[in-house]
Order: sequence, then C-alpha cells, then structure tokens
Amino acid sequence: MKKKIILYRDIPAQERLRLDEQFNVTFFNGINEDNKDAFKAALADAEGLIGSSTDMSPELLDLAPKLKAASTISVGTDQYNLAYLAKRDIPLMHTPGVLNETTADTMFTLIMCAARRAVELSNMVREGRWTSNIGEALYGTDVHGKTLGIIGMGRIGYAIAKRGHFGFDMKIQYSNRSRKPDAEQDLNATYMEMDELLQTSDFVCVMTPLTPDTERLIGAKEFAMMKKSAIFINGSRGKVIDEAALVEALSNGTIRAAGLDVFEVEPLPGNSPLCKLDNAVLFPHIGSATAETRLAMITCAVDNLINALNGDISQNCANQHLLNR
Ligand code: DGY
Repeated sequence: MKKKIILYRDIPAQERLRLDEQFNVTFFNGINEDNKDAFKAALADAEGLIGSSTDMSPELLDLAPKLKAASTISVGTDQYNLAYLAKRDIPLMHTPGVLNETTADTMFTLIMCAARRAVELSNMVREGRWTSNIGEALYGTDVHGKTLGIIGMGRIGYAIAKRGHFGFDMKIQYSNRSRKPDAEQDLNATYMEMDELLQTSDFVCVMTPLTPDTERLIGAKEFAMMKKSAIFINGSRGKVIDEAALVEALSNGTIRAAGLDVFEVEPLPGNSPLCKLDNAVLFPHIGSATAETRLAMITCAVDNLINALNGDISQNCANQHLLNR
C-alpha cells in the first residue's frame, strides 16, 4: 500500500505526478483558516509532509503520530523545530545548493538599488517629479571598490562575496561560527568578530539562518556601531534583526540605507513604518524567486521526500546531526 503524505502547497503538474506515482497524496493549496481543521485531521495518517510557507509547530506535529519524514521547499528550516523532530527521529529535508547563485543575485540587486537609490529615483521619474537634472542631494554612493561585510558565510554568503570580489573589486570581510578557508583563499576574505565587521564595513549583509542564537542578532547597539554611511542588507530572516531599531536607525541617519528581502512579519503590512522610508529598499521575500530556481527547489524537495521515506537521508537532511542514526 502507498504511504500517505500531505502536500501543503501547489507545485507544477510534473512534480505532483512524481509524488502521486509513489504516494497517496492529500493536497492543500496552502493552509488557511478555512482548511486548517481538514489539514489537522489529515495529519493523523500522514507519514510524509512536503511544502513551504507554513509554520509546523510541535503542537501541530503532535497530531501526526505516524510522521516519518518532512521535506521543506526552502533552504531555511525555521518553520520546523529541528530538535523536536529529532526527538521523534523524523528527518527534516531541505533544499540547499540549488538556490545559492539566484539568492546572491537578489542580494546584489538590493545592494545596487540601495546604493544607487534606484527605486526612489525610478519612482520620481514615474510620478513626474523629474523636472531637472538631479542634484547632489539625490546622488548615490559607489559599490565598486568598497568593503563588503558578510555575517553568515554559508553557501549563499560565499556566492555574494564572489560577486563582490570578482565583479566589483570589493574588499570582503566576514564573521561566521567557523573560519571559511575557501572564501579566504579564493576571495581574499578576512575573518573577523562581528563587532569589528560592523564598524569597518561599507555594506553589511546578514545571511545567517534564524536560530535561537541569531534571533535579534542585530539591534540598536549594532546599528550604532556601523558607519553613518553604511548600507545594511538583510537576506536571512526578519527576526534576525530588531526591525523597530532598524526603522529608528534609518530615520535618524545612524546608517545611510537598507535593502531588505525579509521581515519580522510577512507579508509586510502596508502600514509598516519601513514603507514610508525612501532609504529602505523592500522586496517581498524573493531571494530564490526565479522560475528556474523555484522549479529546481521543488524538484529537489520531491527527491528529498522520496529518498527519506525510502530510508535514504544521506543528502539534504537538515537535522541529521541530531538524529540517532
Ligand atoms: C529559503 O529557501 O529559505 C528562502 O528564504 C525561501 O523561503
């Protein structure tokens, strides 16, 4: 008999077919107030879960006593509690590797837009406010030749640093839990403590995963350490920073500008004070959102679930180090 799984977001037909061939699939097109109860009922028999953009708390997963594997269509794993899953010997599979270059492209777009005031000035043109040559007050700042500080030098951090080093002749510095010899050798990156990085970088780019250790890593104290000319980029998760402190830092000139792809609350409410700031470039969490990369992530997540439910978690298991296997 086929194993029962829950697919909790829509995926392309050819990937759905691959799941249907292997499993008995119950499908939810996202979880919302209307289908929450049906989803909870389906958890009772589910041996596998695949999807994204829904918090899967321990309380919810307690309703899934037969669960053997979960597969998130994301590299970030913060919608699951890794330790809880490990206690139940459930592997959480994720999609590292396939989105590094695309996400690095997005982060560089934020860097460029924030430095060159691209969105603010584009809006000026659209709204008919371009009435004479722009003056000094609207000049941007150079990216090439500047110092790029990366907090969290994982695979995506490396891909951003590569663009900075080879494409923009930037000096690369980083802070991370461990040293990264590849980045030091290939990109001439300098390892340093976070405080020193904050004080000396022209661009500060945060790419750490959200964990209990990184929650609110950057707040008022850290913004105050940055150069007044600094541009702050967040491509990790909104909760890694204190958003109210960032609004304050952008409003009172503590730092120059920010480029953000992630927020404390997503979607960002339209009445957020960030929306009123010309020096904040705001993207709707699109780090990996290209057609090619999103498909690659879905294909990877489908492979991951098939492998995990067949007992193979040798690739892409986020909590393997916590499992007793
Ligand atoms: C990821 O893969 O974690 C991206 O942030 C999309 O959620």
